[in-house]
Amino acid sequence: MPVTVLVGCQWGDEGKGKAVDLLSERMDWVARYGGGHNAGHTVFLGREKFVLHLIPCGILQKRPRCVIGHGTVIDPLYLQQEMNLLTQRGVNLNGRLYISDCAHLVLPYHRWLETLEGQDTRIGTTRRGIGPAYQDKAGRCGLRVRDLLDAGALRVHLEDQAARLEGRYRAAGQDPPEPLGLAIEGWTRACAEAAEVMRPFVTDTVDLLHRALQAGQRILCEGAQGTFLDLDLGTYPYVTSSSTIAAGAATGLGLPPSALRTVVGVCKAYTTRVGEGPFPTELAGEEAESLRARGGEYGATTGRPRRVGWLDLVQLRQAVRINGITGIFLTKMDVLTGIAKIRVATAYVTPDGAADRPPPDAPRLALCRPEYEDLPGWEESLRSTRRWIDLPEAVQAYVRRIEEVAGCRVQAISVGSPRTAVVPVPAPDRRG
Ligand code: IMP
Repeated sequence: MPVTVLVGCQWGDEGKGKAVDLLSERMDWVARYGGGHNAGHTVFLGREKFVLHLIPCGILQKRPRCVIGHGTVIDPLYLQQEMNLLTQRGVNLNGRLYISDCAHLVLPYHRWLETLEGQDTRIGTTRRGIGPAYQDKAGRCGLRVRDLLDAGALRVHLEDQAARLEGRYRAAGQDPPEPLGLAIEGWTRACAEAAEVMRPFVTDTVDLLHRALQAGQRILCEGAQGTFLDLDLGTYPYVTSSSTIAAGAATGLGLPPSALRTVVGVCKAYTTRVGEGPFPTELAGEEAESLRARGGEYGATTGRPRRVGWLDLVQLRQAVRINGITGIFLTKMDVLTGIAKIRVATAYVTPDGAADRPPPDAPRLALCRPEYEDLPGWEESLRSTRRWIDLPEAVQAYVRRIEEVAGCRVQAISVGSPRTAVVPVPAPDRRG
């Protein structure tokens, strides 16, 4: 059975939580393949709001079993909290959650290092220690989930960190936020407690998923962040430290690339970004304030106000190419109701002439100016619409233009936060 991958087409916060939740209904497995608790996936179940940061959103559906793959980085203290929170809210994790024994750990000193190195302000990170944890992984000095389960190895590793941290703080002429001896005592105790909570869920998830593949079961790979936050293909250095694109599902879960047949790209009907870095279609002033307020654009993880702008189809076209997107899930369309003239960027003007794709690095992207097309807006509320034929003509025209420029069909449109607020989009030849 082919595998489905779900990816963000922009800079994260596209509304992937809802898309995963809907697709999960039909899945046997939902697996996170990258990032850590820097992600924030929001799902509304009736009046209840769930914000998940590490455990796949599939856990909120009855059917699928969920995997946190080795491509992720896991903060055990945070994961323990998320597991407790879900259990308290009646979500059963037993026999439904599997944690890779090979995922690297985010430990409290990674957050310290992130601040010490100034990554948090320079890049505008989520301050969760994600970058330093991946740095340790690539530097081959990280600790993995399997090491957490060995109390002796964990203590030795944490004690080794004391010397490293002391050196780093001394070189920077600063004191650590807490005396190191005390901190390491506390971390050792807290990690040992988290290890016991996690232990029954830890396993070889590569083997698990391969067995599922062989048995013909359906697997959804849940991407975190977005294409343009990818470490290799995003707007470097204003990126996260993991592989956020569809191909990341192969390395982050150990699945064969040939199995990744369906790729759903989640794209907001406009654009948002948190953190630093170029953003060609960014709005400023009152226009930005108004769109931010309409869309409730505040970070699910950090609460920061998101930067907002028009939909950038140059970017979307590139996301379609890089990820091999087979269908777009367009979110937050209802937010555009009442805007008289809606703009979309269809090309860039650069110092070297016109461009139909984004340059691969942040400094050059910062020099790009968007070339806009203006499309008519609509006044009707979309929130109770459930059929394509009932959507205003202006909405249909907006969708068609997205498809033409991005080179990929739109499969569904989200028109509100509830699970049911979705309009399926028929294939172009069946739209009447
Ligand atoms: P880090 O992942 O915390 O290292 O942050 C690096 C960059 O990625 C910053 O610009 C963050 O704001 C951004 N980022 C990380 N995770 C998310 C996410 O889930 N949604 C949106 N932006 C994110």
